[in-house]
Amino acid sequence: SKKLLVDVDCGVDDAQAIMLALAAPNVEIMGITCVHGNTSVENVCKNTLRVLQACNKLEIPVFKGAAVPILGHHIKTSHFHGLDGLGDVPDPNAPGLDMIQKEGAVSAMIRIINEHPGQISLVATAPLTNLALAVRMEPSIPNKLKGLYIMGGNTESRGNTTVCGEFNFAADPEAAYIVLNDYQCPIYLACWEFTCYNKLSWEFCDQWLAQDSEKARFMTRIFKHSLDISKTERFEKEFIDGTGLISCDSYAMAAAIDEAYILETDEFPVSVELTGTHTRGMMVVDTVGFMNKTQKAFILKKVNLKRFEHMMMAALK
Ligand code: BDR
Ligand code: CA
Repeated sequence: SKKLLVDVDCGVDDAQAIMLALAAPNVEIMGITCVHGNTSVENVCKNTLRVLQACNKLEIPVFKGAAVPILGHHIKTSHFHGLDGLGDVPDPNAPGLDMIQKEGAVSAMIRIINEHPGQISLVATAPLTNLALAVRMEPSIPNKLKGLYIMGGNTESRGNTTVCGEFNFAADPEAAYIVLNDYQCPIYLACWEFTCYNKLSWEFCDQWLAQDSEKARFMTRIFKHSLDISKTERFEKEFIDGTGLISCDSYAMAAAIDEAYILETDEFPVSVELTGTHTRGMMVVDTVGFMNKTQKAFILKKVNLKRFEHMMMAALK
């Protein structure tokens, strides 16, 4: 089976990505590490437990990680996912934080990768703080990974958080920089523009949520807040090419669990802008070779959307 380690800032699309993996055949989630991002790391921990509870998978260990970015400067979040990160709906039965593992996220990441050399696919759907700290503590871990799958960055300088920055990279540019430079393993990127060009239709979204299952009802509740915002006119601009369902984090997850989903990639060295009036946190793609960098990232370009829809449907069955 495919072994995954998942690093999240559990907002609604992180929840969708986790559910996609839980429903996929032959996939084993070895652990979920939490990091600041869409909301506080405490909320992220709680949200992750709620998602696992909704899927009857509370046996999967959840670890708490970094509370702030490398430089400590918190980016202003839009609260697109609600203040609590999951649409601000009451959940009196939410599991308590005592269910979080005692071991910290960064140690757990290093340990799990060391225990299964060459077998773990790391899926990161959040600011990359935990991954950056992990490689600083244990520089050899990238060599022991099967692959790294990231939702983050942008290819056409069209940001969703700053003028040019995608949220996960803009929220911790130093971490993104460290990861893109120090993870010498195959890196797959589901960038913001790519997700916009591959959005699913609102008709699909309706059918997806209308499935008669506890999971679909859970998703309908937590998704309402951001779904309503996504359908507004303002999002025509932000979403590029009109609105629709963009489950950002699920695109990276799908790449980790189904090779046949990836149809075409661009292969270029990439890095991240750390200074600049408008460009801090922007991903930089070196199409010519000016950076003299040998490692190239696989930037998702074309995917099999039928397979993707199938995986998404299965996630809420
Ligand atoms: C990314 O930012 C977060 O809000 C989402 O969960 C996703 O990981 C999209 O830019
Ligand atoms: Ca996320």
